[in-house]
Amino acid sequence: MYSVLCIDDADEQLQALTLQLIDTYHVITCNKPLHAIPIITKYQPDAVILDLQMPKRNGFELLSEIGKIANPPPVLMLSGHADPIYVVRALGLGAKDFLSKPYTASMLRHRLKKIILSSISQDNTEFALIGESAAIQTLKTEIATFAHSDLPILILGESGTGKDLVAREIHRQSSRSQGPFVVRNIGAIPSTLIESELFGCDEGAFTDARPHKGCFELANGGSLFLDEIGEASPALQVALLRIIEDGYVRRLGGQALHEISFRLITATNKNLDELIELKCFRSDLKYRLEGITIYIPPLRDRKEDIPALAKHFLKPYGMEIADNALAKLSSYLWPGNVRQLKMTIERAHMLAGTGPLQAEHIRF
Ligand SMILES: Nc1ncnc2c1ncn2[C@@H]1O[C@H](COP(=O)(O)OP(=O)(O)OP(=O)(O)O)[C@@H](O)[C@H]1O
Ligand SMILES: [Mg+2]
Repeated sequence: MYSVLCIDDADEQLQALTLQLIDTYHVITCNKPLHAIPIITKYQPDAVILDLQMPKRNGFELLSEIGKIANPPPVLMLSGHADPIYVVRALGLGAKDFLSKPYTASMLRHRLKKIILSSISQDNTEFALIGESAAIQTLKTEIATFAHSDLPILILGESGTGKDLVAREIHRQSSRSQGPFVVRNIGAIPSTLIESELFGCDEGAFTDARPHKGCFELANGGSLFLDEIGEASPALQVALLRIIEDGYVRRLGGQALHEISFRLITATNKNLDELIELKCFRSDLKYRLEGITIYIPPLRDRKEDIPALAKHFLKPYGMEIADNALAKLSSYLWPGNVRQLKMTIERAHMLAGTGPLQAEHIRF
């Protein structure tokens, strides 16, 4: 449930807002605008609704103060008048939207939802791929270029190199971004459940079977990310091949064919060619998966990325990092790649107290 902070010095107005939002949001109210900033930093609401006309405090002033907080929540401004000068000023001070009276509850809810969702998708860009190496720059270009096609993408790279992140980024930049992003880890699904997970099942497929959609149907209109594809059993490989070729699924115990449209993204840290040599993976399936292959090199081969990544992982704590610490991080080989770097930094930050983070705080 998203939380929203409503700021107004009139209690009746706060009550009215609460009634309009309480069934969908966690509503926090503040009737003392002077206390608003500490409340925002303490509760970190997903959005703020702020009244422009408050007798004791100008809404514009408070709006500009909110804009100075690190990671400010999106603000929806309310006003008694739709004076264009007010609207322009509010948006200029960083308000995400402006709603003037009279408005209906459904308008309010619609506009609030919009500013929350768009601030969340902006956040995602902040979590996007960090790195200054040529390899990361190439990776970003590849993602931007290939995201728009519907060709299947196979992502290769050692454990912890960022395959999950890249898969999400491809979906986010694709024309299917408004559709679902469905993830299944092939290695983690028990073999007895795998067919019903992937294909879904109809009533009576087996005793106690509850009818449900499989992940291909769930991903309809969006992207399906099958992680650890190298773990797929021979039977599953045959089934996958058939779905990719036919474009429809039949649920277990069902007759109907469900046509589906999805973008398939797969990933593995295994060497599929070796698996093919060992007769553990079908070469015809590999050809189907690798419309486009994206390879993420291990961190030890792109050490230039280490400082930027380390600073990125320290950012939420607002902590600096000393040069001796960066040197120590850069001298290590990182068998667990970026995931291991992230955990090492999180551990070191606890040892560093208030910082800055020094070499002595880093333990491998
Ligand atoms: N270039 C990057 N910029 C920022 N964060 C990154 C980057 N690469 C990886 N990460 C972070 O490192 C962690 C591990 O990445 P991720 O889970 O995508 O790796 P993976 O390749 O899928 O690993 P596995 O093979 O074990 O599933 C995540 O927290 C991810 O956000
Ligand atoms: Mg992964």
